[in-house]
Amino acid sequence: MPLFPEHVIQEVAAKNDIYDVVSQYVTLKKTGGSYVGLCPFHNEKTPSFSVSPQRGIFHCFGCGVGGTVITFLMKIENLSFTEAVQELAKRANISLPEPKGYDREAAQARERERNLLMEINREAAQHFYESVKNSKQAVEYLKARGLSGADAKRFWLGYAKDSWDDLFHHLKAKGFTEGDINRAGLLASNDNGRVYDRFRNRIMFPIFDTRNQIIGFGGRVLDDSKPKYLNSPESVLFSKSRNLFSLNIALASRRDTVLLVEGYMDVIALAKAGYPNTVATLGTALTAEQAGMLKRYFKEVVLCYDSDGAGQTATERAIGILRDAGVGASVLTLDGGKDPDEYIKKYGIDRFNVRFRERRADMAYLIGQFGEKYDLTNTQERVAYVSALIPFFIKIANDVELDVYVRMLSERAHVSAEAIYSQLGKDRKTQVRQTEKQGPSPEALQRKWTSDVLDRARDTLLGLLIASKGIYLRHKEELSADLFGEEGGRARLFEAVTTAYQAGETIDEKALCLRFADEENNPASRVLSQENRFDDAEKAFGELTNTIHAQLREKKIKRALESGDLEELNQLLKGV
Ligand code: UTP
Ligand code: MN
Repeated sequence: MPLFPEHVIQEVAAKNDIYDVVSQYVTLKKTGGSYVGLCPFHNEKTPSFSVSPQRGIFHCFGCGVGGTVITFLMKIENLSFTEAVQELAKRANISLPEPKGYDREAAQARERERNLLMEINREAAQHFYESVKNSKQAVEYLKARGLSGADAKRFWLGYAKDSWDDLFHHLKAKGFTEGDINRAGLLASNDNGRVYDRFRNRIMFPIFDTRNQIIGFGGRVLDDSKPKYLNSPESVLFSKSRNLFSLNIALASRRDTVLLVEGYMDVIALAKAGYPNTVATLGTALTAEQAGMLKRYFKEVVLCYDSDGAGQTATERAIGILRDAGVGASVLTLDGGKDPDEYIKKYGIDRFNVRFRERRADMAYLIGQFGEKYDLTNTQERVAYVSALIPFFIKIANDVELDVYVRMLSERAHVSAEAIYSQLGKDRKTQVRQTEKQGPSPEALQRKWTSDVLDRARDTLLGLLIASKGIYLRHKEELSADLFGEEGGRARLFEAVTTAYQAGETIDEKALCLRFADEENNPASRVLSQENRFDDAEKAFGELTNTIHAQLREKKIKRALESGDLEELNQLLKGV
């Protein structure tokens, strides 16, 4: 990857602490010399994602993804290698030379594809925007919802005509192929293979990423037909779980707080009412990735969901997710109006501003909200009330904050603070026990990846060789790639180590991790993330190679037995 000189890439990786970068997305807990957390790249309930700040690498023992701070940013923000390096250079105030040659071909192709799809989306948005003017019903709909031409311009609102191929034709005339347009998510097809416009007779809401590029669309019907909203499908460009509607505008407002609402229309109504710092999820519940993004950009998330039952449930869920991400959240409740858009229309912005000022911290809200659900004059219900809140209390990391809310709950429930604390102590333990049931610990996962003794020994031996050039040089005659097997990238990692040592170099751990970062299971970050200590390297080498040889021999014997190859078997047994 000679896009930037090697020393520049090294500097970028060195000046961006991987702990700092990762913890903007993942809540990390210290374990020995490294940190663990819930992997942002696959769904899990037990942490198997490990970060080593000393080495500057990460690895997930669950899904196998691993690499350096550059790899992390690439994967979490969906960037190319070049983009990630540029982003991190900016973050660390490093000025980059103009990129010269080119990145790995795949990354280059991916970037081209993303650019192409963004260009198609932009062209489509432009076309939708122009189409409003020629559609009486679109203009009327927007007007009826209180939206002016200026609002349409600000949010690039548009209209997809009631036609099967209006956009298709337009984009083809601009030189895009059917395949391109389809990959941008703008087409649909029926069983007979007939291809047509995905969005028809809908008000169109372009969805922008943080760099103001259009990555997808939401389209709303003008009447009561279903589905009310249709979104672009997931693609290399568009991920519903990793983007937020209007985040670009919210970022540009440069405020500390951000309002999180359910609907696109709510975002627009609030932006018009003086809250440009409003975002919405893309038709799905809040995800941990989105919570991580909000944490990165804002100090406080104000939850402002619909006031119906579904909205309340979603609020409780979001509080849990935001707490897990370490975000300070508060809740704004709407009295009497269904959603923020309707509330402002019905009661005016002044009353909304009062609601905003009177928003309550997440836990204070829950204590109040749950308090309404139970009859607190009844002993059993009081117990149920406290129990219902315990799962949220468990997530409070700060002891002072915990104390504030334990006291608040104690007063409301007429239960002593001591009793709540003791319940909390118990429940924390049960939670630990439950997680053990739910999934294996990081150590167990580590064992899982290297389920048999042989592979575990191989990984540990590779770690030893990377840690000690001396061991390698003293024993290189005894080592060969086939000792490490084809699987898990071990043989190739061994070759890489050998090549470096033969060339008289030392191992650059980060470069090694980067080199294997595209692997489904990165062997370098896996090996380096295992915290093996080699107090006596020579002894360790002897034990590990013995284990490997013994295991290999056992395997051969088994194979010979299975295939009935007696000659081979005799040979093997003679060698005892
Ligand atoms: P709502 O049904 O609450 O819509 O859905 P809304 O924002 O109040 O819309 P209006 O005021 O009727 O126009 C909230 C959000 O859920 C997603 C959309 O993102 C919408 O903004 N949604 C809703 C869908 O993705 N599909 C649907 O069919 C409905
Ligand atoms: Mn609405």
